[in-house]
Amino acid sequence: MGFGKATVGDVQRFWDARPCNIRHSKSRIGTKKYFNEVEKRKYFVEQHIVSFAQFDKWRGKSVLEIGCGIGTDTINFARHGAKVTAVELSKKSLDIAKRRAKVFGLQNKIKFYLANVEELSKTVPIRRYDLIYSFGVIHHTPHPEKAIKEIKKYADKNTVFKLMIYNRYSWKVLWILFKYGKGAFWTLDELIARHSEAATGSPVTYVYSRTQAKKLLRGFKIKDICADHIFPYQIPDYKKYRYRKVWYFRYLPKSLFRLLETSIGWHLLITAKPTLAND
Ligand SMILES: C[S@@+](CC[C@H](N)C(=O)[O-])C[C@H]1O[C@@H](n2cnc3c(N)ncnc32)[C@H](O)[C@@H]1O
Repeated sequence: MGFGKATVGDVQRFWDARPCNIRHSKSRIGTKKYFNEVEKRKYFVEQHIVSFAQFDKWRGKSVLEIGCGIGTDTINFARHGAKVTAVELSKKSLDIAKRRAKVFGLQNKIKFYLANVEELSKTVPIRRYDLIYSFGVIHHTPHPEKAIKEIKKYADKNTVFKLMIYNRYSWKVLWILFKYGKGAFWTLDELIARHSEAATGSPVTYVYSRTQAKKLLRGFKIKDICADHIFPYQIPDYKKYRYRKVWYFRYLPKSLFRLLETSIGWHLLITAKPTLAND
């Protein structure tokens, strides 16, 4: 695994060109209607986020969010009463997230930083947080291990670290391999990066087995790790805001689909705590 030549600048340009989920609504960007529609679509398609983030658990607590994108989860932490520090590499995404906070009157509950997680402590003052949350971010930075090392600086023994990274042994990886790679598994890492996101050509997208995830999380002890999320919809319909499943998922019993999601889902949902000297 390696995206040796890709730089943080490449990553920033990619997400500036098309911030994550920016097309989740057809309404005018920056309006309340737009943000409400973005949220509705996101939590409809990625329902597991709500139970993973446990927004209502962090009322009155401090939350550090790494890679907030356009701020869907950020707003929900703040809405539920958390004091949020949100960090993002893409200025375009951050500006939309800031606008979102303003639209919902939550700007006093969120402190935003434009920063690269690999050098987090150069920009974001070090202090401990109750929750460190990062959904779908660390696998897009060229050196994820540097990111984890930086994140650790904001954790003490009571901090909970919730992280989503992509699952190597997933339906999505198989689908990419056969749809775009015609089975050419030796090009897999490049293929995955190219086709992992809504916009083609992500400069960096790592995928992790459970064992690799454990190795990545140096300085943390994993308390829970599970897979979730298979995207079942026909893409042309989805782009038109219609939700029609592909035929093989349409006829699959719900319980079987759920079993697939929890075994070969695309998202590895990890809850971890910092390791202590005697761990
Ligand atoms: C797939 S999006 C996820 C956004 C958000 N967490 C969500 O779930 O909607 C990945 C985000 O990670 C951000 N990102 C990638 N590398 C980063 C880095 N080194 N530092 C901070 N943010 C980064 C990108 O700019 C992008 O907004």
